[in-house]
Amino acid sequence: MPTNQENKRDLLSLSDVTPSEIQRLFSRAATLKKAVKTGTVTHTLKGRTLGMIFEKPSSRTRVSFEVGMFQLGGHALFLSSKEIQLGRGEKISDSAQVFSRYLDGLMVRTFAHDNIVTMAKYASIPVINGLSDDFHPCQVLTDLFTYQEKRGSLEGRKVAWIGDGNNMAHSWIMATSKVGCHLTLACPTNYEPNPKVMAQAQKEIEAEGQGSVQLTGDPREAARGADLVITDTWTSMGQEAERERRLRAFEGFCVNSAMMKEAKPDALFMHCLPAHRGEEVSSDVMDGPQSVIWDEAENRLHVQKAILEWLLGYGLEKKI
Ligand code: CP
Ligand code: NVA
Repeated sequence: MPTNQENKRDLLSLSDVTPSEIQRLFSRAATLKKAVKTGTVTHTLKGRTLGMIFEKPSSRTRVSFEVGMFQLGGHALFLSSKEIQLGRGEKISDSAQVFSRYLDGLMVRTFAHDNIVTMAKYASIPVINGLSDDFHPCQVLTDLFTYQEKRGSLEGRKVAWIGDGNNMAHSWIMATSKVGCHLTLACPTNYEPNPKVMAQAQKEIEAEGQGSVQLTGDPREAARGADLVITDTWTSMGQEAERERRLRAFEGFCVNSAMMKEAKPDALFMHCLPAHRGEEVSSDVMDGPQSVIWDEAENRLHVQKAILEWLLGYGLEKKI
């Protein structure tokens, strides 16, 4: 075990950040976003390096982390698991200790969430979850930021998740206690979220005294009166062999204009992307006036830069 881990923080799931830290991150992300628009970005991570290990494909996560590090004066290394020794069986614990000798931080996209937990356990540098089978915290932090940017606080707001009880759904479940929103998930039978995640979220909801999560099998019921409607692919990375079965199971769960009519007239629509038009969402909703998907995608850059400054640079106390 490395010994110099005392002060490092990781971002493996939303359980790793407090509600007040999230708001400080968002305030810094808003400042960093303005700086990009006004051409006044400063090199707060000059000389710092981020390793990015990808065991699954990525467009947004890879590009936004890489561009984010560049804009802050640092450097990002794209490490496809196929091209490093990890892909040939070098142990995660050994890799973590070696990478810690070169880098200032690691972003990891992998399958089993335990892989990231092990990486964080043995790395003496911060580890950021860039998506696992269980969670996608950077995306959901960005979703929260995007909602706040458009509509203000999520406290007391009704959020509808329509579709698979997957990694994105899990991160939204964990977000409820952080921002005080009321989440209703509509998932087909056998595609509900992991009960362990539901139980952990319930504990955190009780501890924070805010937020709620409920499940239904009826997507229209979830959408009714919602301030925000969210969906995601029905077939996540690694589940390709189940695609046909999933297409049948999710029939009736497409977020189309009839579904959006159940929500409040000013409700927003979000999707982490990539989307499958005509499956989990119709093209008219994706391209319609309630959709904020392109801003949501852009905001990955700004929110992650705030996360990178926090974890690789200065901590929240000193800088943000
Ligand atoms: N939303 C998201 O994480 O996209 P990528 O898979 O393209 O990184
Ligand atoms: N649930 C999706 C999210 C992609 C960003 C997946 O894991 O493939």
